[in-house]
Amino acid sequence: MKKAIVIGSTSGIGRSLAEVLINNGYTVGVTGRREVILKSIHKQYADKIFFKHMDVQDWASIDSICNELVDNLGGLDLLVISAGIGEENKSLDFNVEHNVINTNILGFTCIADWGVNYFKHQGHGHLVNISSIAGIRGNGLAPSYNASKAYQINYLEGLRLNANHSSPSIYITDVRPGFVDTAMAKGDGLFWVAPVEKAADQIYAAIKRKENVVYVTKRWRFIGYLLKVIPYALLKRL
Ligand SMILES: NC(=O)c1ccc[n+]([C@@H]2O[C@H](COP(=O)([O-])OP(=O)(O)OC[C@H]3O[C@@H](n4cnc5c(N)ncnc54)[C@H](OP(=O)(O)O)[C@@H]3O)[C@@H](O)[C@H]2O)c1
Repeated sequence: MKKAIVIGSTSGIGRSLAEVLINNGYTVGVTGRREVILKSIHKQYADKIFFKHMDVQDWASIDSICNELVDNLGGLDLLVISAGIGEENKSLDFNVEHNVINTNILGFTCIADWGVNYFKHQGHGHLVNISSIAGIRGNGLAPSYNASKAYQINYLEGLRLNANHSSPSIYITDVRPGFVDTAMAKGDGLFWVAPVEKAADQIYAAIKRKENVVYVTKRWRFIGYLLKVIPYALLKRL
C-alpha cells in the first residue's frame, strides 16, 4: 500500500486530494492547525489516516512531526505541500507580508527540504507542491502572495535539479492552479473557478504521470502562457 503525507489537508485542495489518495489505496498522513477537523477526518477514514497538528510557521517542529508521521505510516512515497495563505494587502502592511512569507516561503522551504532529503536517503519518492499561476507575474493587490509563489516555482526547479544528481527516481511536481473553489479563492473578477474535486482529480492524474509542471484546470495553461508573454504596459491595465 502506498503512503502519502498531505501538509495542509484540513480544507480546500489538500483535503480533497487526501480523499482522492485514500480512495486510490493510499494510507495518508494529514496535517493542519485545526485539530477538530483533523479528528473528524480521522473518524471518517479510521485506519487509512494518521494525523498530526502542524503549524508550518513552527519550523523547529517540522522535521520531528514529519518523521513521526512516516513512522506511523511505515514509510513514505509521496509528500504533498498544500498549506498556504494569501491576503490582499494594497496598503503594504508589513505584518500581512510577513505572515505570507513565513508560511509560503519559510514553511514551504522547511517541509520541501525535509522531503527531498528523505527521498534522497531512500533513493526514490515524489514531492508535490501547490504553487499557483499567480507566481508567473507580480500583483499590485497581493504582492507577497505572487512573489511567494514565484519563489516556490523557482525553488521547485532547483530541487528537481538537486535531486536528479542523487537519483532519477525522485520526482518533483509543481502544480499551478488558476482559481479553485476554496476558502482562499475570494474577491471580485474570478473566472474559470474549478470545483475543488475536479482540481484534486487533475492533480492526482498529474501525480500518476509524474509531471514536472501542471496547470489546474488544464485550460489555465493558456493563461499561464499569456501571462509569460504580455508586456508590462498591458499587465498594468488588467
Ligand atoms: N483556491 C485557489 O484558487 C488557489 C489557486 C492557486 C493556488 N492555490 C494554492 O493552493 C494551496 C491550498 O489552498 P486552498 O485553496 O486549498 O485554501 P484553503 O482551503 O484555505 O487551505 C489552506 C490549507 O493550508 C493550511 N494552512 C494555512 N496556514 C497554515 C499554517 N501556518 N500551518 C499549517 N497549515 C496551514 C490550512 O490548514 P489550517 O488552517 O488547519 O492550519 C488549510 O488546510 C495554497 O498554497 C494556495 O496558495 C489555491
